[in-house]
Amino acid sequence: MLKDKVIVVTGASSGIGEATALLLAEQGVKLVLMARRKERLEALAQKVNDLGSEAMVIPVDLVNRDQVLEAFKQVHSRFGYVDVLINNAGLMPVSFMDKLKLDEWDRMIDVNLKGLLYCIAGVLTGMKERKSGHIINVSSVAGRRVWPGFAVYNATKFGVTALSEAMRMELTPTFNIRITVIEPGAVATELTQTITDQDILDSFAKRRITPLQANDIARAIKYAVTQPEHVNVSEVVVMPSAQM
Ligand SMILES: NC(=O)c1ccc[n+]([C@@H]2O[C@H](COP(=O)([O-])OP(=O)(O)OC[C@H]3O[C@@H](n4cnc5c(N)ncnc54)[C@H](OP(=O)(O)O)[C@@H]3O)[C@@H](O)[C@H]2O)c1
Repeated sequence: MLKDKVIVVTGASSGIGEATALLLAEQGVKLVLMARRKERLEALAQKVNDLGSEAMVIPVDLVNRDQVLEAFKQVHSRFGYVDVLINNAGLMPVSFMDKLKLDEWDRMIDVNLKGLLYCIAGVLTGMKERKSGHIINVSSVAGRRVWPGFAVYNATKFGVTALSEAMRMELTPTFNIRITVIEPGAVATELTQTITDQDILDSFAKRRITPLQANDIARAIKYAVTQPEHVNVSEVVVMPSAQM
């Protein structure tokens, strides 16, 4: 069902993006791997090839709009179109509001929301012309519930969840562009490495839940992208069994 599909994965250099690329690579697809860390992407591309899929590596900083739009031009020059965009890149330097970590607030808004929008802009015209496409936005359970310390991250992920539902209404019935939002609970990845607020780090250190693995989310994404064309899996929440 996925054979030869052109699939772009953002945030492919680690965690959920990397696991998703590896899982989909088993299907004989054409994978475009985007993130900033080129060496990680190149190592992943080798694994993708070994699994029988084609890989294109595009190092890109999602904060830079011109760079993102240029990256999607390169994808279109090589493959002609994009079947699936997995809009996964993001960061989570959570902190309490009174710490006033403005640079971290900016970065979350720039990558989690604006970067995701630039990628949508990179594929929308082509998908609309072909009346075919699938955009997977990776939000979070933090796009449905709030917690102290998560305010700005919550704001970005509530934004992604709301955007996804509005996109589905605008784009799916009219242009046959399917929209899925994936909302994971805690997953063991590098995501917490950008946290600088010691109070948050201390509270995370006390958490005693067995988190999900990146591959658990990759399987949810694979489920969404392998449904027949008349099925739009609009929203998938995946929680660790032990998380409230
Ligand atoms: N882990 C969780 O508990 C969890 C739960 C719910 C939702 N999520 C969401 O899942 C998504 C993937 O996160 P993850 O858990 O897999 O974390 P991760 O391992 O830290 O992966 C984040 C990815 O985003 C990329 N990225 C960050 N800033 C970027 C930028 N400026 N330009 C381009 N790429 C950038 C990183 O690549 P480079 O550093 O190489 O650029 C990396 O590949 C995120 O949207 C996150 O919010 C995660």
